[in-house]
Amino acid sequence: MNAESEFVVETRGLRKSYGAVHAVKGVDFRLRAREVVGLLGDNGAGKTTLIRMISGAERPTSGDILLNGEKVSLRSPRDAMERGIETIHQYNSTVGNMTIAQNIFLGREPLGWKLGNFGILRKGEMRKASEDALGKVGFHLRSPDAIVSDLSGGQRQGVAIARALQFQANIMILDEPTNHISVKETNNVIRFTKELPERGYAGIFISHNLGHVFQTCSRVIVMSRGNIVADRATADITIEEIEGLL
Ligand SMILES: Nc1ncnc2c1ncn2[C@@H]1O[C@H](COP(=O)(O)OP(=O)(O)OP(=O)(O)O)[C@@H](O)[C@H]1O
Ligand SMILES: [Mg+2]
Repeated sequence: MNAESEFVVETRGLRKSYGAVHAVKGVDFRLRAREVVGLLGDNGAGKTTLIRMISGAERPTSGDILLNGEKVSLRSPRDAMERGIETIHQYNSTVGNMTIAQNIFLGREPLGWKLGNFGILRKGEMRKASEDALGKVGFHLRSPDAIVSDLSGGQRQGVAIARALQFQANIMILDEPTNHISVKETNNVIRFTKELPERGYAGIFISHNLGHVFQTCSRVIVMSRGNIVADRATADITIEEIEGLL
């Protein structure tokens, strides 16, 4: 048995190389329960690669990932989800030719329930749950039966967030969630991110917008060329200092 860990997520010497490209070079990253950390860094710094390993989308080249102090091997995004890690990816992962409700439940349909073979009750429950989840993030879309390819980029992002919210998780990873969305929708995402701790989540928030990061995160981690170059409480660092590290 492991002693109680202070960290819900910890990486030790985590590396990822793509041939000669060393995207993440031995990173020690730590996240506590109910803490939202801002992950910053220039284009290509390794932010997405790091969180893709934590969300099971990418296998590390070497190093360890620990969840609540326990070393884990995440073989797939589903593996990570089952351990309470939800991810909103930089490049939206909604499926265009399905409805909003189908997207929100994709891959997690209740047992005995198959796509194309919805029980009437299940379908009703899913529509209701989808509307509730969208409402919680402040996205009010026409109908949960709308086809996702008919939505705007920002609306699709709303569906991805609602999907992440719909399931019991304790870690929410948001990789540039405010890209391509309107001011109003951005404010919804910021509010949602700020509220993660009181909803019981820890969060990793990746953004190039330092204003958004300062509004939502209690700590910032700066990456440069595959390494962590700063790890500080938001209260102890200024935007100018961070800009100097990028
Ligand atoms: N699948 C891949 N194959 C080859 N190289 C990759 C792959 N994914 C990422 N890389 C490389 O790894 C490095 C880190 O990329 P990553 O996407 O993690 O950066 P990032 O910090 O998320 O940047 P951005 O802010 O632009 O999203 C880059 O040099 C990138 O080209
Ligand atoms: Mg990225």
